Amino acid sequence: MKRSLVIFDGAMMMRVETSPIDLRSDTVTKPTPEMRAAMAAAEVGDDVYLEDPTVNRLQKRAAEIFQKEAALFVPSGSMGNQIAVRLHTSPGQEMITEERGHIYNYEMAAMSAISGVLARPIHAEDGILRWDLVSPAIRPRVYYRAQTGLIALENTHNMAGGTVYTPRQVEEICAKAHEAGLPVHMDGARIFNAAVALDTDVASLTRPCDSVMFCLSKGLAAPVGSMLLGSREFIDRARSLRKMLGGGMRQAGILAAAGLIALEKMPARLSEDHANARLLAELLEDIPGLSLSSSRVRTNILVVRIEGAELDSAKLVLLLQKNGVLVGTIDPRTIRLLTHLDVSRDQIQRAAQIFREVLETLTQTSVLAP
Ligand SMILES: Cc1ncc(COP(=O)(O)O)c(C=O)c1O
Repeated sequence: MKRSLVIFDGAMMMRVETSPIDLRSDTVTKPTPEMRAAMAAAEVGDDVYLEDPTVNRLQKRAAEIFQKEAALFVPSGSMGNQIAVRLHTSPGQEMITEERGHIYNYEMAAMSAISGVLARPIHAEDGILRWDLVSPAIRPRVYYRAQTGLIALENTHNMAGGTVYTPRQVEEICAKAHEAGLPVHMDGARIFNAAVALDTDVASLTRPCDSVMFCLSKGLAAPVGSMLLGSREFIDRARSLRKMLGGGMRQAGILAAAGLIALEKMPARLSEDHANARLLAELLEDIPGLSLSSSRVRTNILVVRIEGAELDSAKLVLLLQKNGVLVGTIDPRTIRLLTHLDVSRDQIQRAAQIFREVLETLTQTSVLAP
């Protein structure tokens, strides 16, 4: 899609035709030519009858890579997470989550609507829970208190800025949770980003978790789909629940074919996205009006605070959009930027330049004047 780019050139504005630089999310990535070719050629069958060979291959490969007994292809990360919440808990229980967690904030209150479960949110500065934060939120085992049913971790943590749990941190929480008789679900929508950032593998990051969800359709660039992993018994139950929720798909091998390429080939290039995110942060951090620290950028997500009372996220997003840069908002003073396959290093530099010009123009026109 072509858009009109407005360049601030002193008092003058020039218009240039260009495609927007889309930093709203890594979900905007388009399937690669190799994925499209694989989709066109995919061998398919009816997956509700368990007869789609490509879906079966994807599930087998995912289980192997994560060293779990079984895996299930689901249409979205939200569905994978919510199936896990439903299977691990009973109505009337609580789920411990970091307070900015996706499961709690961005999945349509499904945990209450589908599972009858209440969130017990905990604040962790960097989004990464530790046992000393989790432990006080576990309900005492008395009959007159709602019981804790599940602990959910998010790796990488989206709204905390792509922060990562190390294998040790995951192990510690899982060991203590299991001692307390509690299961742990990993929302690993971007677990491959975490593995690349830590130079480890996804199995090491998720081994002690009772279930794991990861997305094929974010940084890995598949058009649709996520995977849920766990024990064979858990995945058998998950398959029934997926059907109940309307997620039983038929010739889904067309999607799984792209998913296989996402799984096998795309993790190797995520380090480019991380380098681009770091570069973007370095270019933005000294622009007056923005507050962020490049040293905190670990993966492909930047969370940027807006300073100055007169500018808010909505205004900034609109001005950037008019100039060909798309970013997302978190709240009135915070925006979010993600790097991904479909933004190049050159575009990162151009985006940073547009940020600078937009903010400098605002300063000159006194919106941000001291
Ligand atoms: C951390 C996290 N978990 C889960 C999801 C849900 O994935 P989907 O959009 O496929 O439902 C997202 C989507 O952005 C996410 O960022």
